[in-house]
Amino acid sequence: MTSPQGRRMKRIIVALAAPALVAAFVIAAGCASLATPEAPSSGSPAPGGTSAAVAVSQQVKDGAALYVAFACIRCHAPNGVGGVPNRLNVGGDDTIPALNNAYRDPSEQFHNAVQITQVMMQGSILSAKPGVINMPSWKGVVNSAQAGAIAAYILAGFPQVTGVAYDANPATAADIYSAFACISCHGQLGGASASPPPAPNPLSPDKAVPLLRNPADNVTTADMLSTIMAGSIPPPGKVGEILMPAWGQILSTQQVAKILPYIPDGPKGKALPAPPSASPLPLAGGSATSATGAPAASASP
Ligand code: HEC
Ligand code: HEC
Repeated sequence: MTSPQGRRMKRIIVALAAPALVAAFVIAAGCASLATPEAPSSGSPAPGGTSAAVAVSQQVKDGAALYVAFACIRCHAPNGVGGVPNRLNVGGDDTIPALNNAYRDPSEQFHNAVQITQVMMQGSILSAKPGVINMPSWKGVVNSAQAGAIAAYILAGFPQVTGVAYDANPATAADIYSAFACISCHGQLGGASASPPPAPNPLSPDKAVPLLRNPADNVTTADMLSTIMAGSIPPPGKVGEILMPAWGQILSTQQVAKILPYIPDGPKGKALPAPPSASPLPLAGGSATSATGAPAASASP
């Protein structure tokens, strides 16, 4: 428990989590100072804003919910203002880009949905250096109707949508597991029959994102921790292959401490109580689906 290795791990968590707090502050400050009178309806998708709600289509509403559910909001920030530090980046920019045209260089603004959905399906690897936050491919995690809805929400300029819940700082392990989209890629915890199942990942050697709390696997806690903090791009890192994002600069120290004992593989995982069932996500056609985007009917036992 107090082995040198344990202490070293603790230091790494603290060191990596500090910028996340700074990020939260920068984002909060950014929202306030960058809000323009021209965009009275823009606001975080969290309910409770005071600006007048504009009429938005069901597709845009679904997009707002999915922007939260697939954790786009954790990396690209509420309102798509960007600016979340990506300090381990070796080359180019040291923050995650804004998705809101109001905060993008005019020469780089999005004009159509394909510009957005293409990056979502292919992913974009800035650097394979451990700890650098890369844009994962969401192919097989987010279906095309859902990707279209998110793109519509982005192109609409992130209008305020009532009824979309966004918890800026989820505290329980189950809430963290869904808020950071762990559940969307890894599926529900434990057992081959868990629902939703892990997302398919045909370009990876295992052909699927690994199941967590997997009784048949026995990955050490130290390895689980380092994958969460530093991410993992299975070499050679193919376009469209789902990768594990580096969460070290996104999750807080407390969140890492909560999630780690919640997901252990092997016998430890088997002894834990069953997780709460997953809440359905919009299919972006007006109906709901399981958390992976597969139609709910096919995911039920
Ligand atoms: C783990 C953090 C993370 C998550 C989650 C994430 N992104 Fe990204 N995204 C990035 C990073 C980092 C980049 C920059 C990649 C680059 O420049 O090569 C990026 C780039 C993008 C781009 C291209 C931006 C540009 O300037 O060209 C789009 C579009 C995008 N993301 C959309 C999304 C959507 C939609 C979601 C939710 C489904 C999402 N992202 C979730 C980290 C993330
Ligand atoms: C965009 C999809 C995606 C998301 C979101 C995601 N992961 Fe992963 N994760 C992966 C993939 C793919 C791998 C396998 C990487 C490899 O094989 O190198 C992985 C690997 C892991 C591993 C190592 C498992 C093992 O058996 O070695 C852990 C632990 C893990 N993820 C935890 C999490 C947690 C916790 C979250 C939420 C905070 C999360 N992941 C979110 C895709 C994702």
